[in-house]
Amino acid sequence: MKIIRFAPLALTVIAVVAGCTMLTADSSGVNWKSVPTTTLTLFYPAQSSYQWVRSANHPGSSVVATGGACVTCHNGQEEKLGNKLVKANALEPTPVDGKNGVIQLSFQVAYDDQNAYFRAQWKTRNPYPGEAHPFVRFDGKEWKPYGYPKLDEVVRKGEQPGIYEDRFSIMIDDGGVPGFANQGCWLTCHNGERDMPNFATRSQVQANPLYQALKQNDVRKYLPSTRTDADASWDKGKSTGEIAKIKTDGGFLELMQWRAHRSNPVGMADDGYVLEYRLSDAGGNPFGSNVDPKTHQPRFMYDESKVGRKALTAAEIRKVPTPLIRGYNAVPFDPKTAWKAGDLIPEYVLNPEGPKGSGADNKNVKGVWQDGMWTVVWVRPLNLANPDDKALRDGKVYNFAFAIHDDNITTRGHQVSFPVTVGFGAKATIEATRVK
Ligand code: HEC
Repeated sequence: MKIIRFAPLALTVIAVVAGCTMLTADSSGVNWKSVPTTTLTLFYPAQSSYQWVRSANHPGSSVVATGGACVTCHNGQEEKLGNKLVKANALEPTPVDGKNGVIQLSFQVAYDDQNAYFRAQWKTRNPYPGEAHPFVRFDGKEWKPYGYPKLDEVVRKGEQPGIYEDRFSIMIDDGGVPGFANQGCWLTCHNGERDMPNFATRSQVQANPLYQALKQNDVRKYLPSTRTDADASWDKGKSTGEIAKIKTDGGFLELMQWRAHRSNPVGMADDGYVLEYRLSDAGGNPFGSNVDPKTHQPRFMYDESKVGRKALTAAEIRKVPTPLIRGYNAVPFDPKTAWKAGDLIPEYVLNPEGPKGSGADNKNVKGVWQDGMWTVVWVRPLNLANPDDKALRDGKVYNFAFAIHDDNITTRGHQVSFPVTVGFGAKATIEATRVK
């Protein structure tokens, strides 16, 4: 296993956090050999937004506008779409060198009386796990951001290295979001979002009543039902009262993200949902900023007694695990240390005790990277009663959609699936196997 190249002390930390299951069977207890595997082709969507698929530039627009399914016309075309869209074209103004057009996702689902169990496997483009995430770097005087996602101009121009965690995301609809069964992710992806056409600037967003109410400075995924105009424009938000009613009526999507740097080292995935914004479930995430907004210095550094050093250097990235974890390998930052130019400390710090309540529903999710492939095993409790979750239940069918962020990228730089049905004791394209 590649992991043995990692510094022994840091490995101990990661293994402890992951419950020492890395080298043995996974903690789901499921015999995955008895669970059928579905292979989905995830493809690069470039800037094919909600607005674009409804525009005169898209030959399918009239069918899309009346709620028709993408696969009516694009069935089996994932490979063709992804390989075209990943290169420079009308929908891709900033192509990323060497990016893959498609990723094959192998997906398995099992369940018992308590939980659903997901197992996802895919090959990474790189011969290493994408577990590193941006850092702050000491330049001899100050700590400054180091490493950005590959769609960012600073990386495309070669001014910064491409550094961003790998992610595996699942969206779930229980039938409560009109159109999702047919058009999946394309309901959530809009002009105005980061890296999308007509990007909404910070000052434009801050001047908008909905975003003022949300206290947010950028546009992220949202559902058309939360907007007032036919084109579902980002700046035409309904009132918070109207949006709250949509949520109570179940008109939102589950969106959960497994993150190779910011959740996997503590054996979790984050738990969120999409409604008027991409929101986190009540109770928080397993990670937070490691940069003090006043001093611009890190809040935590590596514990030298566990990691062997207080900071890493650029040459160590991809060779040693980088996550900084409170209670395991992090101690409060000491500004009096004789920091050297080039010292790196992660921009985020993990806290296994951070998420509570609904935010902690995905607390048994583990990914292992071996021989070029991630294997993520995910335990999701059934029958959740939180107002920000889509409860999975025996006897029901759901619409799932998937995204993988591979090779140091974020926002739309992912590969995505068309929606697919998943049934628990019910007829569907993917039928969960009853175990135990
Ligand atoms: C009524 C048929 C139809 C439907 C429904 C439809 N499309 Fe299309 N779409 C087309 C045709 C035809 C093209 C042009 C293909 C070509 O040029 O090879 C196209 C092109 C595209 C392209 C650009 C590909 C390229 O070659 O540049 C994308 C992206 C796309 N469609 C996404 C979608 C999505 C997402 C949906 C569902 C929300 C959808 N389409 C629904 C017919 C359809």
